[in-house]
Amino acid sequence: MTSASLRFDIITLFPNFFESPLGCSLISKALKSKLIEVNIHDMRKSGKGVHKQVDDRPFGGGPGMVLKPDVLLDSLRKAISLGKKELKSTKPHIILLDPTGNIFKQEKAFQLSKKGWIILICGHYEGVDERFKQFVSEEVSIGDYVLGGGETAAFVLIDAISRMVPGFLGKDESATNESFTRPSSRSKSSLLLDYPAYTRPENFLGAKVPQALLSGNHKEIAKWRTNKRIEKTRKKRPDLLN
Ligand code: 6GU
Repeated sequence: MTSASLRFDIITLFPNFFESPLGCSLISKALKSKLIEVNIHDMRKSGKGVHKQVDDRPFGGGPGMVLKPDVLLDSLRKAISLGKKELKSTKPHIILLDPTGNIFKQEKAFQLSKKGWIILICGHYEGVDERFKQFVSEEVSIGDYVLGGGETAAFVLIDAISRMVPGFLGKDESATNESFTRPSSRSKSSLLLDYPAYTRPENFLGAKVPQALLSGNHKEIAKWRTNKRIEKTRKKRPDLLN
Protein backbone atom coordinates (compact mmCIF):
# COMPACT_ATOMS: atom_id res chain seq x y z
CA MET A 1 0.00 0.00 0.00
CA THR A 2 1.26 3.47 -0.82
CA SER A 3 1.26 5.94 2.07
CA ALA A 4 -0.05 9.50 1.98
CA SER A 5 2.11 12.38 0.71
CA LEU A 6 1.84 13.95 4.11
CA ARG A 7 1.02 12.48 7.48
CA PHE A 8 -0.12 14.63 10.40
CA ASP A 9 -0.30 13.41 13.98
CA ILE A 10 -2.11 15.66 16.44
CA ILE A 11 -1.54 15.35 20.18
CA THR A 12 -4.40 17.00 22.02
CA LEU A 13 -6.56 16.98 25.15
CA PHE A 14 -9.62 17.54 22.92
CA PRO A 15 -9.63 14.90 20.17
CA ASN A 16 -13.29 15.64 19.26
CA PHE A 17 -12.35 19.17 18.33
CA PHE A 18 -11.06 18.10 14.92
CA GLU A 19 -14.01 15.98 13.73
CA SER A 20 -16.00 18.72 12.08
CA PRO A 21 -13.25 20.74 10.35
CA LEU A 22 -11.56 17.59 9.00
CA GLY A 23 -14.90 16.47 7.59
CA CYS A 24 -15.37 19.58 5.45
CA SER A 25 -14.45 20.75 2.01
CA LEU A 26 -11.17 19.94 0.25
CA ILE A 27 -9.54 18.65 3.44
CA SER A 28 -12.03 15.81 3.72
CA LYS A 29 -11.52 15.05 0.03
CA ALA A 30 -7.74 14.92 0.49
CA LEU A 31 -8.22 12.56 3.44
CA LYS A 32 -10.53 10.28 1.48
CA SER A 33 -8.13 10.12 -1.46
CA LYS A 34 -5.22 9.45 0.97
CA LEU A 35 -3.30 12.48 -0.27
CA ILE A 36 -2.97 13.41 3.39
CA GLU A 37 -3.47 11.41 6.56
CA VAL A 38 -4.39 12.70 10.02
CA ASN A 39 -4.06 10.70 13.24
CA ILE A 40 -5.36 12.10 16.49
CA HIS A 41 -3.88 11.12 19.86
CA ASP A 42 -5.56 11.79 23.18
CA MET A 43 -2.96 13.28 25.52
CA ARG A 44 -5.11 12.22 28.47
CA LYS A 45 -4.11 8.59 27.82
CA SER A 46 -0.61 9.51 29.02
CA GLY A 47 -1.98 11.17 32.16
CA LYS A 48 -0.68 10.20 35.61
CA GLY A 49 -2.48 8.23 38.29
CA VAL A 50 -6.11 7.22 38.67
CA HIS A 51 -7.23 10.71 37.63
CA LYS A 52 -5.04 10.69 34.52
CA GLN A 53 -3.55 14.02 35.56
CA VAL A 54 -2.02 15.99 32.68
CA ASP A 55 -1.31 19.35 34.28
CA ASP A 56 -0.19 20.83 37.58
CA ARG A 57 0.28 24.16 39.35
CA PRO A 58 3.26 26.29 38.33
CA PHE A 59 6.34 26.35 40.56
CA GLY A 60 6.72 29.87 41.90
CA GLY A 61 2.99 30.41 41.98
CA GLY A 62 0.71 32.32 39.67
CA PRO A 63 -2.52 31.60 37.86
CA GLY A 64 -3.41 28.64 35.67
CA MET A 65 -1.99 25.20 35.17
CA VAL A 66 1.05 23.90 33.29
CA LEU A 67 1.11 20.78 31.11
CA LYS A 68 3.43 18.21 32.65
CA PRO A 69 6.63 17.44 30.71
CA ASP A 70 6.50 13.70 31.45
CA VAL A 71 2.94 13.46 30.12
CA LEU A 72 3.83 15.43 26.99
CA LEU A 73 6.93 13.33 26.31
CA ASP A 74 5.07 10.07 26.82
CA SER A 75 2.32 11.04 24.38
CA LEU A 76 4.90 12.26 21.86
CA ARG A 77 6.85 8.99 22.09
CA LYS A 78 3.67 6.96 21.56
CA ALA A 79 2.79 8.98 18.45
CA ILE A 80 6.32 8.62 17.08
CA SER A 81 6.48 4.87 17.61
CA LEU A 82 3.08 4.32 15.95
CA GLY A 83 4.10 6.46 12.96
CA LYS A 84 7.51 4.80 12.61
CA LYS A 85 5.83 1.43 12.04
CA GLU A 86 4.15 2.83 8.96
CA LEU A 87 6.64 5.37 7.67
CA LYS A 88 9.86 3.46 8.34
CA SER A 89 12.65 5.91 7.47
CA THR A 90 10.76 9.23 7.49
CA LYS A 91 11.59 11.47 10.46
CA PRO A 92 8.83 13.53 12.08
CA HIS A 93 8.92 17.32 12.15
CA ILE A 94 7.61 18.10 15.63
CA ILE A 95 5.71 21.35 16.15
CA LEU A 96 4.50 22.72 19.46
CA LEU A 97 1.60 25.14 19.01
CA ASP A 98 2.39 27.92 21.44
CA PRO A 99 1.60 31.66 21.46
CA THR A 100 5.29 32.43 22.08
CA GLY A 101 6.40 30.59 18.93
CA ASN A 102 7.43 31.79 15.47
CA ILE A 103 4.58 33.43 13.57
CA PHE A 104 3.18 31.09 10.92
CA LYS A 105 3.43 32.44 7.36
CA GLN A 106 2.69 31.18 3.84
CA GLU A 107 6.36 30.49 3.11
CA LYS A 108 6.44 28.20 6.15
CA ALA A 109 3.30 26.40 4.98
CA PHE A 110 5.05 25.70 1.69
CA GLN A 111 8.21 24.38 3.37
CA LEU A 112 6.25 22.17 5.75
CA SER A 113 4.22 20.67 2.87
CA LYS A 114 7.40 18.83 1.85
CA LYS A 115 8.11 17.29 5.26
CA GLY A 116 6.23 14.01 4.84
CA TRP A 117 5.43 13.68 8.52
CA ILE A 118 4.39 16.43 10.93
CA ILE A 119 3.46 16.03 14.58
CA LEU A 120 1.40 18.86 16.07
CA ILE A 121 1.27 19.21 19.84
CA CYS A 122 -1.52 21.39 21.18
CA GLY A 123 -0.53 23.46 24.20
CA HIS A 124 -3.10 24.46 26.77
CA TYR A 125 -3.74 26.32 30.01
CA GLU A 126 -0.85 28.56 30.99
CA GLY A 127 1.45 26.64 28.69
CA VAL A 128 3.75 23.66 28.73
CA ASP A 129 6.67 22.95 31.06
CA GLU A 130 9.71 24.65 29.53
CA ARG A 131 11.79 21.46 29.79
CA PHE A 132 9.59 19.72 27.23
CA LYS A 133 10.60 22.17 24.52
CA GLN A 134 13.93 20.45 23.85
CA PHE A 135 11.99 17.58 22.28
CA VAL A 136 10.29 19.64 19.57
CA SER A 137 11.65 20.85 16.22
CA GLU A 138 10.04 24.27 16.58
CA GLU A 139 7.35 26.29 18.32
CA VAL A 140 4.74 27.97 16.15
CA SER A 141 2.13 30.66 16.85
CA ILE A 142 -0.53 31.72 14.36
CA GLY A 143 -0.63 35.39 15.35
CA ASP A 144 -0.48 38.01 18.03
CA TYR A 145 -3.56 37.14 20.04
CA VAL A 146 -4.32 34.59 22.73
CA LEU A 147 -6.33 31.43 22.01
CA GLY A 148 -7.78 29.07 24.59
CA GLY A 149 -5.61 26.28 23.23
CA GLY A 150 -3.47 25.09 20.36
CA GLU A 151 -6.26 23.13 18.61
CA THR A 152 -7.55 25.96 16.43
CA ALA A 153 -3.96 26.83 15.55
CA ALA A 154 -3.19 23.19 14.67
CA PHE A 155 -6.08 23.12 12.24
CA VAL A 156 -4.96 26.39 10.67
CA LEU A 157 -1.60 24.74 9.97
CA ILE A 158 -3.18 21.58 8.55
CA ASP A 159 -5.39 23.66 6.26
CA ALA A 160 -2.62 25.93 4.98
CA ILE A 161 0.01 23.16 4.63
CA SER A 162 -2.29 20.64 2.92
CA ARG A 163 -3.23 23.14 0.19
CA MET A 164 0.44 23.26 -0.75
CA VAL A 165 0.64 19.50 -1.34
CA PRO A 166 0.68 18.89 -5.12
CA GLY A 167 -2.67 17.47 -6.17
CA PHE A 168 -4.65 19.02 -3.31
CA LEU A 169 -6.20 21.70 -5.48
CA GLY A 170 -8.10 20.48 -8.52
CA LYS A 171 -6.30 22.51 -11.10
CA ASP A 172 -2.69 23.20 -10.18
CA GLU A 173 -3.40 26.78 -11.27
CA SER A 174 -5.80 27.62 -8.47
CA ALA A 175 -3.04 28.10 -5.95
CA THR A 176 -0.79 30.20 -8.12
CA ASN A 177 -2.69 33.46 -8.40
CA GLU A 178 -4.35 33.81 -5.05
CA SER A 179 -3.19 35.93 -2.16
CA PHE A 180 0.08 34.69 -0.67
CA THR A 181 0.85 32.27 -3.45
CA ARG A 182 3.13 29.27 -3.11
CA PRO A 183 6.49 31.06 -3.21
CA SER A 184 7.94 30.36 -6.63
CA SER A 185 11.58 29.58 -7.25
CA ARG A 186 11.81 32.69 -9.42
CA SER A 187 10.83 35.32 -6.92
CA LYS A 188 9.05 36.22 -3.76
CA SER A 189 7.15 38.92 -5.59
CA SER A 190 4.20 36.56 -5.65
CA LEU A 191 3.51 37.57 -2.05
CA LEU A 192 0.77 39.90 -3.22
CA LEU A 193 -2.85 40.05 -2.19
CA ASP A 194 -5.36 38.46 -4.53
CA TYR A 195 -7.09 40.46 -7.26
CA PRO A 196 -10.76 41.42 -6.77
CA ALA A 197 -13.25 38.84 -8.04
CA TYR A 198 -16.67 39.37 -9.63
CA THR A 199 -19.49 37.08 -10.71
CA ARG A 200 -23.03 37.59 -12.00
CA PRO A 201 -25.00 39.83 -12.05
CA GLU A 202 -23.04 42.31 -14.19
CA ASN A 203 -24.90 45.14 -12.50
CA PHE A 204 -25.35 44.77 -8.75
CA LEU A 205 -27.28 47.63 -7.14
CA GLY A 206 -25.75 49.94 -9.72
CA ALA A 207 -22.17 48.69 -9.24
CA LYS A 208 -20.81 47.38 -12.54
CA VAL A 209 -18.24 44.67 -13.20
CA PRO A 210 -15.00 46.29 -14.47
CA GLN A 211 -14.99 46.46 -18.28
CA ALA A 212 -11.61 44.72 -18.62
CA LEU A 213 -13.05 41.49 -17.20
CA LEU A 214 -15.86 41.45 -19.76
CA SER A 215 -13.54 41.97 -22.72
CA GLY A 216 -12.74 38.30 -23.29
CA ASN A 217 -9.16 39.41 -23.97
CA HIS A 218 -7.02 37.16 -21.75
CA LYS A 219 -3.93 39.34 -21.94
CA GLU A 220 -5.89 42.40 -20.96
CA ILE A 221 -7.56 40.52 -18.11
CA ALA A 222 -4.23 39.22 -16.77
CA LYS A 223 -2.74 42.72 -16.93
CA TRP A 224 -5.73 44.24 -15.15
CA ARG A 225 -5.52 41.61 -12.40
CA THR A 226 -1.79 42.09 -11.85
CA ASN A 227 -2.26 45.84 -11.60
CA LYS A 228 -5.09 45.38 -9.11
CA ARG A 229 -2.99 43.02 -7.00
CA ILE A 230 -0.19 45.57 -6.75
CA GLU A 231 -2.59 48.45 -6.10
CA LYS A 232 -4.51 46.53 -3.43
CA THR A 233 -1.34 45.33 -1.70
CA ARG A 234 0.12 48.85 -1.67
CA LYS A 235 -3.09 50.18 -0.13
CA LYS A 236 -3.88 47.45 2.40
CA ARG A 237 -0.61 45.65 3.15
CA PRO A 238 2.37 47.85 2.21
CA ASP A 239 4.48 45.71 4.58
CA LEU A 240 4.31 42.86 2.02
CA LEU A 241 6.05 45.01 -0.59
CA ASN A 242 9.00 45.70 1.76
CL1 6GU B 1 -0.36 28.29 18.71
N1 6GU B 1 -1.70 28.82 20.91
C1 6GU B 1 -2.40 29.63 21.72
N2 6GU B 1 -2.85 29.17 22.88
N3 6GU B 1 -2.67 30.91 21.42
C2 6GU B 1 -2.21 31.35 20.25
C3 6GU B 1 -1.49 30.56 19.35
C4 6GU B 1 -1.24 29.27 19.74
N4 6GU B 1 -1.17 31.30 18.28
C5 6GU B 1 -1.70 32.49 18.51
N5 6GU B 1 -2.32 32.54 19.67
